[in-house]
Amino acid sequence: MLKVGLVGCGGISGAHVPSWDDMDNAELVAICDIRPEKMERYPGHKFYTDFDKMLEENEFDIIDVCLPTFLHCEFALKAMNKGINVLSEKPISLNESDVDLLYETAEKNGVKYMVAQVLRFWSEYEVLKQIYDSNKYGKLISASMWRLGGYPSNSWMEWYTKKELSGLIPFDLHIHDLDFLVYAFGAPKNYVCNRKELPDQDYMSVVYDYGDFFITAEASWFKAKYPFYMGFRFQFENAVVAFERDGLTIYDCDGNEFKPCEMNEGGENQSDFELPSAGAYENEIRYFADCVENNKPVEKVTKESLAVVLKILNEVK
Ligand SMILES: NC(=O)c1ccc[n+]([C@@H]2O[C@H](COP(=O)([O-])OP(=O)(O)OC[C@H]3O[C@@H](n4cnc5c(N)ncnc54)[C@H](O)[C@@H]3O)[C@@H](O)[C@H]2O)c1
Repeated sequence: MLKVGLVGCGGISGAHVPSWDDMDNAELVAICDIRPEKMERYPGHKFYTDFDKMLEENEFDIIDVCLPTFLHCEFALKAMNKGINVLSEKPISLNESDVDLLYETAEKNGVKYMVAQVLRFWSEYEVLKQIYDSNKYGKLISASMWRLGGYPSNSWMEWYTKKELSGLIPFDLHIHDLDFLVYAFGAPKNYVCNRKELPDQDYMSVVYDYGDFFITAEASWFKAKYPFYMGFRFQFENAVVAFERDGLTIYDCDGNEFKPCEMNEGGENQSDFELPSAGAYENEIRYFADCVENNKPVEKVTKESLAVVLKILNEVK
């Protein structure tokens, strides 16, 4: 049984804690947040307000870092230097030099390290990658991706809206789409970014040029309660693959349309695509736990791809 500790019990812990709790081969032993009230919604675990004390008083196989972005590197290093495997929320860091430091520290201590780039584990994006890899609908021609929402409010210490703490929308939102692009298609040949960064709203649109095709990705924190909306529309030679408010739909050139991620009444997948068995956060957590438990390399999220993403983000920001 893997012994797990989690630090940072804010918004994203709501996806991580239940995933750990649902697992048969892992036990979430202890959780930590400097604000004790944030832990009350997760009864049945030991509570700590001091990360060092949590590490001192328990033995862990995995530490899950769900802290604000500017703390990811420091806490991951601390755990790995104690010989503990680390799963860290995205982004790996705001600083490119931390990529080498983190991976060298993992290697030196003989532990595994993975950044939770969740789109690599997300069914709709996984189907899209399978379509591209299989050439099922011909070549890719163009695409749009989007990740849009309102300006963040009421975060701890307002960290989301401080550039030096979160990196703002390039590192907080756009990173998801760029990470998926690098994962699925490799590094783009060129890119052009347009951005409007105002004190209370932020919008960017980047065109990634891959030579044979180009992809436009938008991200926003609008000055409005715009409901969060992520999705994509990929134009292949013989189909449009669209992930919109009504789910993933394939519109083929013969006039057919179908939804490859919908299950039948028995909960079975009706399409010929391989779909992950659970939700994306659970998939990524199960994947990392499997790598640790069975001493498998963390191949799905590589150091090289994270370094490419961070370099581009530091150029387009
Ligand atoms: N993968 C995704 O889809 C996704 C979605 C949202 C957020 N995130 C990432 O998750 C991370 C956390 O985001 P969030 O929205 O949960 O933030 P949050 O502000 O809601 O939560 C962070 C928590 O960390 C706690 N904290 C701060 N310093 C601490 C310390 N020294 N020790 C212990 N606890 C401490 C705070 O009290 C707070 O409860 C961010 O890096 C963000 O980019 C990822």
